[in-house]
Amino acid sequence: MPTTSPDPCIVVIFGASGDLTSRKLIPSLYEMDSLGLLPKETAIVGVSRRPKEDDAWRSELESDARANAVGFDDAKWRAFAQRISYYAGDATKSDCYPGLAAKLDAMHEERGTRGNVAFFLSVSPDLYAPIVRQIDAAQMVVEGKRWCTLDPVSANWQRIVIEKPFGHDSASAAALNRELAQVFDESSIYRIDHYLGKEVVQSINVFRFANTMFEPVWNHRYIDHVQISACETLGVDDRVAFYDQTGAIRDMIQSHLMQVLAFVAMEVPCRMAADDIRAEKLKVVRSIRSVSPDAVASSCALGQYAGGSDVVAYHDLPGVAKDSTTETFAAIRLQIDNWRWAGTPFYLRSGKRLAQKRTEVVVQFKPPAADLFRGVPHPLGVPAGNRLILRIAPDEGARLTFESKVPGRRMSIKPVHMDVDFRKEFGSEAVEAYGPLFLDVMSGDQTLFKHRLEVEGAWDAVMPYLSEASNAARKSIESNYAPGSWGPASADAMMARDGRAWNTD
Ligand code: BG6
Repeated sequence: MPTTSPDPCIVVIFGASGDLTSRKLIPSLYEMDSLGLLPKETAIVGVSRRPKEDDAWRSELESDARANAVGFDDAKWRAFAQRISYYAGDATKSDCYPGLAAKLDAMHEERGTRGNVAFFLSVSPDLYAPIVRQIDAAQMVVEGKRWCTLDPVSANWQRIVIEKPFGHDSASAAALNRELAQVFDESSIYRIDHYLGKEVVQSINVFRFANTMFEPVWNHRYIDHVQISACETLGVDDRVAFYDQTGAIRDMIQSHLMQVLAFVAMEVPCRMAADDIRAEKLKVVRSIRSVSPDAVASSCALGQYAGGSDVVAYHDLPGVAKDSTTETFAAIRLQIDNWRWAGTPFYLRSGKRLAQKRTEVVVQFKPPAADLFRGVPHPLGVPAGNRLILRIAPDEGARLTFESKVPGRRMSIKPVHMDVDFRKEFGSEAVEAYGPLFLDVMSGDQTLFKHRLEVEGAWDAVMPYLSEASNAARKSIESNYAPGSWGPASADAMMARDGRAWNTD
């Protein structure tokens, strides 16, 4: 929700040869350019160790852009590719920087990018701190505290964009935050989460605060529970080295799903401005109850996918440790201990090799206070309460389920749905989530980026599920769910114990 336009700048991508750069970052910058949203001065410099000519890198990038960018157009790509160049160097070593700095200086002069630089760390997380230290040692951060300069228009900026995983646990995330703070002001640190670039996640605020009918009932008095799911059909495949150290809780729940939860659960901010929104999100994260060790096993379900006709079981993938208990599926129950949500559980679920790609928020309202229709035929026995679904992927839309009388003389009731498909409604094609986030970095808008304390709070909330207390839930994890299913039986059992079930609508 940027309020200012993007400044001209140079985007420096560390990790130019990586998968993220070619599959997501470059295609998303191209999409923004082809929509006319990228300032004309913008330049992109990729940094990686292997020597490479600019043209060679551009042609490597073209095939991925062709496959991944919406509405790829040859002429537009050729024009965009002129913005891209390559710099060979080991970003963890000091000798990489004099040449890089000289290149950036020349580019600022030539393109009019005014000394503005957005550094993007698209590298292995263990390289974040070493690279930041080298950027500092090379004195490439000369501003970064725009809010306190006397002439904010001409002042240049240097910002850093950091991918997840942001740390491996609470302690490492806090340590990384301390490292970053030595070099960059918090207002120049953009902890990116591509879920916040998704249209429907952004529209949660509009849904809640630009309408009047939802907010009055958006609390524990009317809402029975909330489900936030990110189910995927893809497996782990060639990401074993990363994934076996990570698992679904670290990979998806601590980051993406916690962000969605914060938007669903936060209080009304005083303004729709980055600081105010982030302050409210932080309060939510900090209000999450720390599950006691003896409650961990009963408030989570963990799984690893089994093999199938054309699927290798997670456990049998080359590189997976023999005794690996890393979860490819996780469902956890969280309780937010604040005035609004006391007693309303939030269930977060994510898994690989599930039946469908399905990313959604399900808000289940309580049943009517008095059952005036006792004995009236109903497919579920009794009206179960309204259900609101916000569909994030693969479709983008909303569904509201409510009870209706079945036409006829005899009284009978049946739930019906009101559906909105946002893409059909607005007639636009989904662009890669990173693109709008890049524009926010260039505009200095941190609304859709995570604050230091939010990240640390989100880690604190999931740590019990990663601690020894989760061993009981991990004991018989191996191949405990079939590929193409909805996860282990324990996930359904966890809901059933609470008298609830996962959404299947
Ligand atoms: C990434 C995770 O952050 O998000 C992947 O590392 C996951 O494991 C991906 O597949 C899911 O993103 P999306 O946008 O497809 O839901």
